[in-house]
Amino acid sequence: MEFVSTGNSHLRILAGSIVKYITIPEGTLTSEDLEDLPFDFQNILPPMDYTGNWQSAIVARDELSGELVSILSSTPLPGVRDRWCSRSVDFLSLKRVRLLAPQTAIFTLKDSTSLEGVQTAAATLLIGKMARFGGEILYMETETRAYRLLNDARQHQRTVPRTPRFLAHIEEGGRIIGMLLEKVEGRPACESDVAECAQALRELFRVGILQTDCNRYNFLVNDSGHVTIIDFGNVTFITTENAAEGAAMLEEQIEGLEEQFRDTSGAGTVSWA
Ligand SMILES: Nc1ncnc2c1ncn2[C@@H]1O[C@H](COP(=O)(O)OP(=O)(O)OP(=O)(O)O)[C@@H](O)[C@H]1O
Ligand SMILES: [Mg+2]
Repeated sequence: MEFVSTGNSHLRILAGSIVKYITIPEGTLTSEDLEDLPFDFQNILPPMDYTGNWQSAIVARDELSGELVSILSSTPLPGVRDRWCSRSVDFLSLKRVRLLAPQTAIFTLKDSTSLEGVQTAAATLLIGKMARFGGEILYMETETRAYRLLNDARQHQRTVPRTPRFLAHIEEGGRIIGMLLEKVEGRPACESDVAECAQALRELFRVGILQTDCNRYNFLVNDSGHVTIIDFGNVTFITTENAAEGAAMLEEQIEGLEEQFRDTSGAGTVSWA
């Protein structure tokens, strides 16, 4: 189960093999009930048939009686539209090993799941990035598109920066909610890696991608000093219209790297592995 409360509250519950999303508009529940919601939602929310086929619901107060009511919705949930990779896995075939950031975790494949053309053993650690709620699909759409551009460039033998390998789309109920990536070994970048990271940013830009989130945790540096660039959820895509402006922004990003890498506040990650 996932729970997010920023104004409206969102619950994501696995009931049987169907994931259900419940939205509770701000002001519907008391702050006490909101706090208890992740542990006690079945008692706090009005009775709902959790075994039913519905996917999303809104819980609100009846204007006249003040009672909590649920409105089930059959509106299709948003998903990533850019299905460019031939492989996909259902998120139910992934086993979470460790959470790295709210949308990112280390996974293994559950027994009997395999990825065509990809060598994995039961213990192979993989990175999964997934939207928990509708509003996060946009980041997954952007990152999926970035990996498509990188993949296309690589196929045309163009120079591309080191990135994790895109292994598969992750699906939930037939829609794409994220991606499965190769887990790359490395530590976050530091000041001595600025030149290598700048080179990676320039190569990325030549593929049509401007990285706008250059915190040190978005560069993984291996024992040989080679840099892998990650996290394309917030990138800007370069077109003929924004190329000049983009090039200027790239130079600004590169100039700022040293200061970014001095930052030890931990911004950009929860933990790294
Ligand atoms: N392919 C990978 N291989 C190894 N580690 C990874 C990989 N992808 C992500 N990580 C680790 O997980 C952390 C979070 O991943 P990422 O930055 O892609 O996610 P995010 O959801 O955008 O999070 P944040 O907002 O914290 O940047 C990274 O800083 C890195 O330590
Ligand atoms: Mg990041």
